[in-house]
Amino acid sequence: MTRYTITVEPLGREIECDEDQTILEACLRNGVWLPHSCTHGTCATCKSEWLDGEVDHGQASSFALMDFEREEKLLTCCAKPRSDVTIEADLDVDEDLEVFPVDDYTGTVTVLEDIATDTRRLVVELDREMGFNAGQYMKLLVPACADGPEVDRTYSMANPPTQTRTLEFHIRKVEGGRGSDGWVFKDLAVGQQIRLSGPYGRFVLKTGDDRHGIMVGGGTGLAPMKSMVRHALENGEYEGELTLYAGGRSRAWLYDVDVFRALEEEHEGFTFRPCLSDETPEEVAASGDDPDRYGYGLVTDVIAADHDKLSGCAGYLCGPPLMVESALKVLMSKRLFPRDIYREDFFNEADKVDGGLKSPLIKR
Ligand SMILES: Cc1cc2nc3c(=O)[nH]c(=O)nc-3n(C[C@H](O)[C@H](O)[C@H](O)COP(=O)(O)OP(=O)(O)OC[C@H]3O[C@@H](n4cnc5c(N)ncnc54)[C@H](O)[C@@H]3O)c2cc1C
Ligand code: FES
Repeated sequence: MTRYTITVEPLGREIECDEDQTILEACLRNGVWLPHSCTHGTCATCKSEWLDGEVDHGQASSFALMDFEREEKLLTCCAKPRSDVTIEADLDVDEDLEVFPVDDYTGTVTVLEDIATDTRRLVVELDREMGFNAGQYMKLLVPACADGPEVDRTYSMANPPTQTRTLEFHIRKVEGGRGSDGWVFKDLAVGQQIRLSGPYGRFVLKTGDDRHGIMVGGGTGLAPMKSMVRHALENGEYEGELTLYAGGRSRAWLYDVDVFRALEEEHEGFTFRPCLSDETPEEVAASGDDPDRYGYGLVTDVIAADHDKLSGCAGYLCGPPLMVESALKVLMSKRLFPRDIYREDFFNEADKVDGGLKSPLIKR
């Protein structure tokens, strides 16, 4: 295996990178933090100046790294060195983010259960402890099969970081998807060993903050929110109020409602707002459930109705890119500045092809 030296400016740090490794992987594994979000060439968060050397731009989507940029810039999550390389990155490390070097782990599947329509909870016991920030994610290796070679897929931890060996994931089935439909919902079983690496990402709870946190989880976008909410409430890691919106078509699409309701009862500053877009108060009442315990309409409609103004709050948005973008617009229409909104878009392979959804207001 050929190895090259990557020089990261303005730090002047030099690290070794294998020819089949991305520059981001090599840096994160060697304790050099570089900005990143999706780690799959879609979001452009990791775009850096390319000062010297030769690279293969790999899987960089032509939306995240346009043709005219390819002589001067690279995506560190995709670029692999073909000689010694020098880059210059924006190294503005978020002060709420504790840097834990990325490493490889083996895990044993201890729970794999259906928790909502097309949604599974996967619990994995790691071979050793791992530190991470509430909101971060892991890459799970999806084994090679008839549909193609080994690939990795990213899933956010739903457990708080104080739980260092038992990781919880919430996985939504995507029709025809290699990782979900073709593995987690097909071959994976309790007792199996899986390989995973992490932690990745910079969508993290701003610990010690005293702003009112408005959290919006669409579908399994609830996973990092659960990690953040539990960390904030159970470990006293947040000083402000928190309101969590969870969106689903009907109650069959929502999960962990009882968990969040129990947290709401126990902690005064926490409000849980499950929202139903395709179910009416009458239908909820007819089934014996209390209709007043839900919001009705899209999660964005419920937020709009709940608040006149959100200035001074902090927004945390996570889930499918379309939902995240709509929620961003609602929060902004309520006077929340883009700089106070943190987002994690659950991009998939299809988004690489069509570019996902790009907003000039994006803060990834
Ligand atoms: C930072 C981050 C965190 C995430 N966390 C979570 C989480 O906690 N829970 C969760 O459920 N998801 C999460 N996701 C999404 C997750 O990583 C996967 O993208 C998702 O599970 C789909 O993966 P898949 O392998 O099943 O589907 P993919 O193989 O990615 O396919 C997705 C869809 O695209 C189609 N497709 C595949 N290749 C192409 C192509 N070349 N051209 C056009 N269409 C194509 C497929 O048929 C399928 O319909 C996260 C994503 C990111 C970026
Ligand atoms: S982190 Fe590199 S494009 Fe998203």
